[in-house]
Amino acid sequence: MIERTVSAPAPSGAFPQVRPRRLRAGAAIRRMVRETRLSTDSLVAPHFAVAGRDVVEPIAALPGRARLSPDRLAEAARRAYDAGIPAVLLFGVTDEKDEAASAAYAPGGVVQTAVAAVKDAVPELVVITDVCLCGYTDHGHCGVVVDGQVHNDLSLELIARTALSHAEAGADLVAPSDMMDGRVGAIRAALDAEGHEGVGILSYAAKYASAFYGPFREAAGSAPGFGDRRGYQMDPANAREAVREALLDAGEGADMVMVKPAATYLDVIARVRAATDLPLAAYHVSGEYAMLAAAAERGWVDERRAALETLTAIARAGADLIITYYAEAAAGWLAGEDRS
Ligand code: PBG
Repeated sequence: MIERTVSAPAPSGAFPQVRPRRLRAGAAIRRMVRETRLSTDSLVAPHFAVAGRDVVEPIAALPGRARLSPDRLAEAARRAYDAGIPAVLLFGVTDEKDEAASAAYAPGGVVQTAVAAVKDAVPELVVITDVCLCGYTDHGHCGVVVDGQVHNDLSLELIARTALSHAEAGADLVAPSDMMDGRVGAIRAALDAEGHEGVGILSYAAKYASAFYGPFREAAGSAPGFGDRRGYQMDPANAREAVREALLDAGEGADMVMVKPAATYLDVIARVRAATDLPLAAYHVSGEYAMLAAAAERGWVDERRAALETLTAIARAGADLIITYYAEAAAGWLAGEDRS
């Protein structure tokens, strides 16, 4: 028999009945409700290749990173793969520069040699190559210069030839970073014509004219000798245009698209994520890495926590893949995670 009726207050949808802190009370419950899980599976490690043997040249503006000869690069690639990282992104660094960027597509060129060495040492690792001319032209621009301007259509042929030489060396994916119009289609046609229909294209679809590439240009010796890259890279103020670029590249046959930089472009990542079902990469670039590393060196931020928070934010925004100079460190941190 019911003695008295308990009258419960109607749910108010507000405090004091509603207390979001209940789901933050301990490590286990936080793990249960965590929305984004940063995984080593989504990390891509960038590496710089130079000619020679047993060469390790530390890069001052990228603490902890070095330019490596193919033999040393193969060792680094083996370590990265063993740590769970599925892919590397390779850049070539050379003093051989001319008007036509001949060293970019030379069969025995530095990237081509490095790709072959890495594929030989770690066949399972996905090898991605950056396809651009800026590290190989004497003026440091990403295409062919005619009358002081980077000529779009004349650049396409050399860019496609460069991509083809990477495929011939064994690259799994080629990643054009030049921002010329039509380059994804030109590369796809060149690869298919030579029987490389299995080689994929990761397009730097939305690559901004950013101040955060400074340390990279020191590492790769690729700073423009005159002017800047605003005539081809995107204006940092534009987000709708990033969606347009990604859709155009998808239409030309890109297998994956990229937003670059990452941490200051989280809104762009989210917009591109919503606009295409292709896998989306985000590049946490050299300046973004250097800022964290420098602040950590001064004891101003905890590097592990700040780096993992940044990479998690990039994943939360919608990136499937994150290209980062923290890849190896993050793989180590994630493996030893304290589950807090
Ligand atoms: C080549 C290229 C650049 C980066 C990747 N590919 C430099 C640039 O466009 O000036 C930057 C990567 C980084 O900063 O980590 N075009």
